[in-house]
Amino acid sequence: MEKLFIFDTTLRDGEQVPGCQLNTIEKIEVARSLESLGVDVIEAGFPVSSPGDFNSVVEISKAVTWPTICALTRAVQKDIDVAAEALKYAKKKRIHTGIGTSDYHIKYKFNSTQDEIIERAIATVKYAKKYVEDVEFYAEDAGRTSNEYLARVVQAVINAGATVVNIPDTTGYCLPTEYGEKIKYLVDHVDLKNAILSTHCHQDLGMATANTIMGVLNGARQVEVTINGIGERAGNTSLEEVVMAIRSHKELNIETNINTQKIYPISRTISNLMNMPIQPNKAIVGRNAFAHSSGIHQDGVLKNLSTYEIIDPKDVGIDDNAIVLTARSGRAALKNRLNLLKIEVNDLELAKVYQDFLELADKKKDITDEDVLILAGKETNGMHRIKLEYLQVISGIGIRNIANVGLDIAGEKFEASATGNGPVDAAIKAIKEIVRRQTTIQEFLIQAINKGSDDTGKVHMQIEYEGQIYYGFSANTDIVAASAEAYINAINKFVK
Ligand code: KIV
Ligand code: ZN
Repeated sequence: MEKLFIFDTTLRDGEQVPGCQLNTIEKIEVARSLESLGVDVIEAGFPVSSPGDFNSVVEISKAVTWPTICALTRAVQKDIDVAAEALKYAKKKRIHTGIGTSDYHIKYKFNSTQDEIIERAIATVKYAKKYVEDVEFYAEDAGRTSNEYLARVVQAVINAGATVVNIPDTTGYCLPTEYGEKIKYLVDHVDLKNAILSTHCHQDLGMATANTIMGVLNGARQVEVTINGIGERAGNTSLEEVVMAIRSHKELNIETNINTQKIYPISRTISNLMNMPIQPNKAIVGRNAFAHSSGIHQDGVLKNLSTYEIIDPKDVGIDDNAIVLTARSGRAALKNRLNLLKIEVNDLELAKVYQDFLELADKKKDITDEDVLILAGKETNGMHRIKLEYLQVISGIGIRNIANVGLDIAGEKFEASATGNGPVDAAIKAIKEIVRRQTTIQEFLIQAINKGSDDTGKVHMQIEYEGQIYYGFSANTDIVAASAEAYINAINKFVK
């Protein structure tokens, strides 16, 4: 079996989509999920583009162990300096640098010549090599670059030290045969002893997965993909489609490191965090991807799955017999769902999660997998030295916002009241009154999980205490309670 490297760019190309921006806390959550999914490379951001992107690359580098962390740059020295700095905590690091190589880019973007672009590409790779061993070069708009010129560029950057050369079909223009021939041309005309070729396809004409597979069949050994195929315009190649196509066709003799059972959970996480619904008929992860409605199909599938299904839904983490969780579900049903979601809990944790589950089920009709993940995260995270005993708020328009809070700190009970410019402000001030630590809230994000006024609200909070950053998270159908709990979750991380 030959290994195909999976380069995930959900947090860079995917995150460029308007409205899909994630905060650092969420990016860390995604990076950790990508690590357990088994991706080889995580493209964590474009550090020179903003302080937020820089910080995310730093924090992801700290949070993740196995995958290589990659940072994007233009062919500009300053970009490379900043990327190298952002990657300083990464255990395995890669700089991804490059320049446009099509006539459109050379003429209109750079007002330059083919030879000058090659010189700049060589100089850029050599500059990046001063910082890291692993340098990937992208020939932007390679899809519309002539094969002869592209081969010259690829050979030149490999000679300069590039370990991976990315052949992006930036505009999503190529036909599958054309993209496959491009990769074959490079395999035949470039010395690839010291480097591999990577695909990077866009979905403008709906051919990203087909083009990527054609690239692999013709010799590319890395694919650049995103979860759910999210990305600029029509999107990038979707990770789940490529991985499952390769896995379903054993005759290709190619394998990836992906733990396919984690595909569905991470697909849902990305969709929720980015507020980007998945089209119901999306291959592999869409709601209808395994739903047979015609009588003939149902009859066949009931007799034997293989009659109409080429993938067992369980292989991508979808449990087709999922029991719907409601207020009447027992502990065993909850435990079964937690196991399906790959969450291990001991008996004590299960008892607590079950208690929270019953409370939530009283307020909300359908308990989704996201709700269960959140409830489990709440009970398994943190030291819980400080617990919220009760919270009462009086708020409205034309009256003062007042919060009364009761905390249990290591068994001792404390109470305080405070006013604020809103119920959340009042609640946090009352908590501060008790814990008496000088903290500053630096980031505060409230999000609904699904839809409807009975929905669970998720709160992410980033607080600063004595020069250190601490993250807090909670979820509750009451967003004031979720905010107070997220604050307490963060301070529990430093209160000893
Ligand atoms: O599509 C593209 O060309 C890119 C490069 C920056 C790698 O995303
Ligand atoms: Zn791209």
